[in-house]
Amino acid sequence: MNSILITGCNRGLGLGLTKSFLNLSSPPRHIIATCRNIQQAEELNSLAKQHSNLHILQIDLKDVEKYEQLAKEVESIVQDNGLNVLFNNAGISPKSTRLNFVKSEDLVDTFVTNTVVPIMLTKAFVPLLKKAAEVNVSAPMGAQKACIVNMSSILGSIAANSDGGLYAYRTSKAALNAATKSMSLDLKPNQIMAVALHPGWVRTDMGGSKAPLSVEQSCNKMVQTVLQLNETNNGGFLQYDGKVLPW
Ligand SMILES: NC(=O)c1ccc[n+]([C@@H]2O[C@H](COP(=O)([O-])OP(=O)(O)OC[C@H]3O[C@@H](n4cnc5c(N)ncnc54)[C@H](OP(=O)(O)O)[C@@H]3O)[C@@H](O)[C@H]2O)c1
Repeated sequence: MNSILITGCNRGLGLGLTKSFLNLSSPPRHIIATCRNIQQAEELNSLAKQHSNLHILQIDLKDVEKYEQLAKEVESIVQDNGLNVLFNNAGISPKSTRLNFVKSEDLVDTFVTNTVVPIMLTKAFVPLLKKAAEVNVSAPMGAQKACIVNMSSILGSIAANSDGGLYAYRTSKAALNAATKSMSLDLKPNQIMAVALHPGWVRTDMGGSKAPLSVEQSCNKMVQTVLQLNETNNGGFLQYDGKVLPW
């Protein structure tokens, strides 16, 4: 894979994914890691000092009007090779979870970050993804060609919802799943694939300390799953280790 862009890389799974891609025996030529505040991203900055293939770009993803500029900055890094993988990782999960505590502003904010942002970012990066698909015309569909990975959650699965609650988070990820399916159909003629990926329940600020998986365990598996994506996975909902999940 020549290039990957990952959002939300200052902490949690975004930082873990960045490390797992950097640690591959053949790492991508360009790993573009975005974060909201570059000065506070200490670990990411120190990684960039050690790895010349890691590029950090600063953006608050709610600033949708800045996506065009972001795409230009990415183009100046990847040049005529385009972007192979767009990994929409950044996300939020509000504290109000049960029906009697749900707040309309939490529903809207969560929808913006978890659903609107990945859709609009994908729209902004379609030209660079198309470019990568054209440059790698003889490669099979997947990460060597062009692919969108949307960080979803099993909590976005309607079929697997046995506990209720979590209105803002569940609806935002179910909507992201629906968007992923549309992307997979709309972009198939351009040989760009799209998948929804559940990282497992992971010990991050969001996942909390009781989660069974470490960031490293989840991210190492997710990286292998992304590298092995093929046409049969297009429009699918997978977990970190490649297992297919119910919608
Ligand atoms: N951890 C789990 O168990 C689990 C399970 C299922 C799915 N997921 C999903 O995995 C993804 C990553 O989760 P995580 O556990 O790593 O969460 P986390 O530790 O809370 O990190 C969230 C990341 O998203 C970034 N972010 C949020 N809003 C942003 C914005 N407007 N602009 C730029 N960056 C923004 C945060 O940046 P700041 O530091 O600037 O806020 C941070 O880098 C999310 O989509 C989450 O829904 C996680």
